[in-house]
Amino acid sequence: SDLDAFITGLPKAELHLHIEGSLEPEQMFEFAQRNGVAIPFASVEDVRAAYEFSNLQDFLDIYYAGADVLRTEADFRDLALAYFDRAAADGVVHAEIFFDPQTHTHRGVPFGVVANGLLAGMDEAQRKHGLTSKLILCFLRHLDEADAFRTLEQAQPWLDRIDGVGLDSSEMGHPPAKFERVFAAAGAMGLKRVAHAGEEGPPAYIHEALDLLQVDRLDHGNRALEDPALVARLARRGMTLTVCPLSNVKLCNVASVDVHPIDRMLKLGLRATVNSDDPAYFGGYIGENFRAIAQGRGLDRDQLATLARNSFLGSFLDDDAVAAHL
Ligand code: ADE
Ligand code: ZN
Repeated sequence: SDLDAFITGLPKAELHLHIEGSLEPEQMFEFAQRNGVAIPFASVEDVRAAYEFSNLQDFLDIYYAGADVLRTEADFRDLALAYFDRAAADGVVHAEIFFDPQTHTHRGVPFGVVANGLLAGMDEAQRKHGLTSKLILCFLRHLDEADAFRTLEQAQPWLDRIDGVGLDSSEMGHPPAKFERVFAAAGAMGLKRVAHAGEEGPPAYIHEALDLLQVDRLDHGNRALEDPALVARLARRGMTLTVCPLSNVKLCNVASVDVHPIDRMLKLGLRATVNSDDPAYFGGYIGENFRAIAQGRGLDRDQLATLARNSFLGSFLDDDAVAAHL
């Protein structure tokens, strides 16, 4: 339709994408076969049938299991390039992607294998599509502070190619406060800081992300809507929220796209953006997320353009590059 073409044609940045969450079932089988790794599924249909989640932890269990097929630099490169191919087809011209090094180093895959593979995919996407990208290292919050510090240490040789640190995995019971010192260290190294907060966790976790982690951007942030003073604070600061509509529905944090608060966020003056989170698991890439909320909430072209514009304003591109995209 016309609106589909309008959405695809909108230049956009993707700011919330876990590269391990772009592992499609077909590619899971391909990597399993070429690496001689056994997987507990008989077919691609079997894998897709297993993607029914009732909360974040349900999803994380299967997402970490799936990542076990990723072993070599070529795997990480191919994974990244497959994502960039799909993103480019959806009109993404810039992407700031998350990776979870601990998921791999804890299985014996060296940090450098992961980083070099992803960076090769990023370089190829720039050549092939003109798509620019940045890399954000996420600490797994269910692990402890010492493990996060070790991971930051392992990242040192690659810091010229890593733009920021993030915080993901099981939110409940793992408040931002747990990572205050490691985020301070990352900030002192000149890294940007982002954190998942208010996806499942309470507004207090969002306050902590702001006050203790000094985040430059907030991932999800949905539960800020329960706290009007917090909404006012985020709006006043022009804080970017990387909202993930299909993820919210698949993880049962929002009942359906028909009641998704994306337009309420805009009306409250929040700088909301639209992102895919883990598209291979949640049923769609960024274009699909835009189409789902456009239809579910009846968004007009102005609102869709605002969401796309917000993605550049909230990106870590320098001011000249942002201006060139607006
Ligand atoms: N890791 C991958 N996707 C995630 C999400 N939506 N929340 C927390 N951790 C994640
Ligand atoms: Zn996420």
